[in-house]
Amino acid sequence: MSYPIYEKLTQLPNDIVALEDYQRLAPDFIPEPVYTYIRSGGADEHTLRRNSDAFNALSLYNRVLVDFDQANTHTQLLGECFRHPILLAPVAHQGLVHTDAELATAQAADALEAGLICSTLASKPMEQIAANTTAPKWFQLYFQASRQHTKTLVERAAASGYTALVVTVDVPINGLRNPIQRSGFQLPDNIQAINTASKSQSPVELNPEQSIIFQGLMSEAPTWRDIEWLRQNTQLPIILKGISHPKDAQRALSLGIDGFVVSNHGGRSLDTLPATIDMLPAIRQIVGDTIPVLLDGGVRRGTDIFKALALGADAVLIGRPQIYALAVAGALGVAHMLKLLRDELEVTMALCGCPTLKDINPDCLFKPKA
Ligand SMILES: Cc1cc2nc3c(=O)[nH]c(=O)nc-3n(C[C@H](O)[C@H](O)[C@H](O)COP(=O)(O)O)c2cc1C
Repeated sequence: MSYPIYEKLTQLPNDIVALEDYQRLAPDFIPEPVYTYIRSGGADEHTLRRNSDAFNALSLYNRVLVDFDQANTHTQLLGECFRHPILLAPVAHQGLVHTDAELATAQAADALEAGLICSTLASKPMEQIAANTTAPKWFQLYFQASRQHTKTLVERAAASGYTALVVTVDVPINGLRNPIQRSGFQLPDNIQAINTASKSQSPVELNPEQSIIFQGLMSEAPTWRDIEWLRQNTQLPIILKGISHPKDAQRALSLGIDGFVVSNHGGRSLDTLPATIDMLPAIRQIVGDTIPVLLDGGVRRGTDIFKALALGADAVLIGRPQIYALAVAGALGVAHMLKLLRDELEVTMALCGCPTLKDINPDCLFKPKA
C-alpha cells in the first residue's frame, strides 16, 4: 500500500497570505487519510484546540512612537546565533507529502536561516538533511529499544553537524489517535524511518494478569535512568521536549539538562493537557533565566510568537504548518511559510514597541482587571 504524491505548486497564488491558507489548500495536495494523520490530535482533540484558543485569549498592548533604527530579531540559543526565534519542529515521515521530504524542508530552513530539528523518524538520511542547511540544526532523539542503537544515532547526529539533541519524552507510547483510526490511515510500506536500524525487541511474553500497556508497550519506554545514561554518553547539549510539569523540569535540571521544549506534541499525545502557552510561565519560573525554554503547539501567527516570548519562551517551534506548506509547494512553500511568520513577528514587534526580543516581556500583554 502507498499513498500518491500529487504535483506541487511552483508559483504561489496571491491568496496565500497567512499560515492558515496553507492548511486550507493542503487537502487538495494530499490524500484525505494523510491530511487527517497530520491535522489531528489525540482522542477528542481538546488539547489540540486549547493550544490555539489559549493564544487567541491573550491580548496585546500596542506601544507608540518607539525608535526602530537598530531593531532586529536576533537571539542566541546554547551559544549559537539565530537570525530569528522560529525553528522547524521535528515532524516524522515527511515523505508522505513530498518526494524530497526533509531535504526540501532543510532547503527552506537554509533560505530563511531558520533552525531545523530533524526527527528520528525522518524519511531521508539525517546526514543529507544536515548537509542541506547551513542554519543551526538539532537532532530530535527517540530512545531506541537498545542503547547501542540509541548511541549509534547520537554519534551519527554529532558527526553530521547537529549541535544539540532534542530528546522527546512525552510519547513513551502513542496517545489515543482516534481521528487517525477513524480515517483508516496506515503508514505505507514505502515510508520508512530509514535512520533507525532498531526494530522493537522481540514481543514481551505476557501472562493473563499482565497489561498489554504497562508490561507490554511501556516495557521499552525510556526512564530517568536513560536520561542519566545519555548525559554520560554525549557531549552534545540535551534539550528535553514534552516537559509540562515543573517537577519534571526540576528533576531534569538536576541531571544536567541544557534546555526544554514546553510541548504537548501538538495535542497528539495525552488529551486534555493544558495549552502549552498556559504551562510555560511555571516552567520558566522553575528553570530560571539562563536555561533556554522553547515552546510549540498552535503557533500560527507572529502575535503567537510574540506572546510566547512575552511569557518566557526564548523561541518557538512550528509543527504542522511546515508540512502543509511542504505538501502545497515543497521547499518554496516552507520558505514562504517561514517568511510570513518572520514578517508577522516583525510587524507585531513594531506595533508593540519592542525593537529587540529582549524588550518583549509580560508587560506587553494586556491583563484585564479581575
Ligand atoms: C504529523 C506529525 C508528526 C510528528 N512527528 C514528531 C516526531 O517525529 N518527533 C517529535 O518530537 N515530535 C513530532 N511531532 C510533534 C511536533 O514536533 C510538535 O511538537 C507539534 O507538531 C507542535 O504543534 P503544532 O503542530 O501545533 O505546531 C509531530 C507532529 C505531527 C503533526
